Amino acid sequence: MPNRDVHNMRESYESSFLLEEDCDMNPFHQFDKWFHHAIEAKLPEPNAMTLATVGSDGQPSARIVLLKSFSTHGFIFYTNYESRKGKQMQENDKVSLLFWWAERQVRIEGVVNKVDKETAEKYFHSRPKGSQIGAVVSPQSQVIESRFVLEDKFKEAEHSYKGKEVPFPDHWGGYIVTPHLIEFWQGRVSRLHDRIQYTLIEEDNWKMERLAP
Ligand SMILES: Cc1cc2nc3c(=O)[nH]c(=O)nc-3n(C[C@H](O)[C@H](O)[C@H](O)COP(=O)(O)O)c2cc1C
Repeated sequence: MPNRDVHNMRESYESSFLLEEDCDMNPFHQFDKWFHHAIEAKLPEPNAMTLATVGSDGQPSARIVLLKSFSTHGFIFYTNYESRKGKQMQENDKVSLLFWWAERQVRIEGVVNKVDKETAEKYFHSRPKGSQIGAVVSPQSQVIESRFVLEDKFKEAEHSYKGKEVPFPDHWGGYIVTPHLIEFWQGRVSRLHDRIQYTLIEEDNWKMERLAP
């Protein structure tokens, strides 16, 4: 019976700080700056983000997905439209994204829309062929009989698409999260962390505020 006491596990955050005067007026530019730092720091998979969704039953659900591009229009990731998250986003377009970069955290809240088919198809065919076949054969989030069944389906598809382009599946594509709130959290000593929150007032006009840690 696991019963582990971890109350002594804690880090002191001392390496950086976040001051208003150093923050870009535009949160996407600020995000770009921090994303670049995360890459430079060689953090593992800095584009991995937690996506939280809430379906019509009100139950929140979170999982990691990979950020594939971002711009001032939003944050794009790809997945199976018929997955659990896909169904939840169909029922409720309000989502949240979370990046954790060691002493830093970025929280994003906004609405989600499907990306256009051409963009998704272009990205799909840029993926390794194995990943394309994986996306075609996996009924993501559904109960399956065994791993063997999945591997058999994969082998079958691999054989039939040998030397051919894998057809772009209808059940797969991208989503873009358009944020109205982005918060940058920087760990500091004695838990007096920096929190700078951007709230969208109107197009391209963001209000910047400091929150208590
Ligand atoms: C590092 C990492 C990256 C992942 N990237 C993706 C991704 O980009 N798209 C995706 O659909 N699932 C991705 N997954 C798997 C999801 O976390 C999740 O298991 C899957 O999407 C099914 O979620 P759902 O049942 O809530 O729809 C990733 C998992 C990890 C740990």
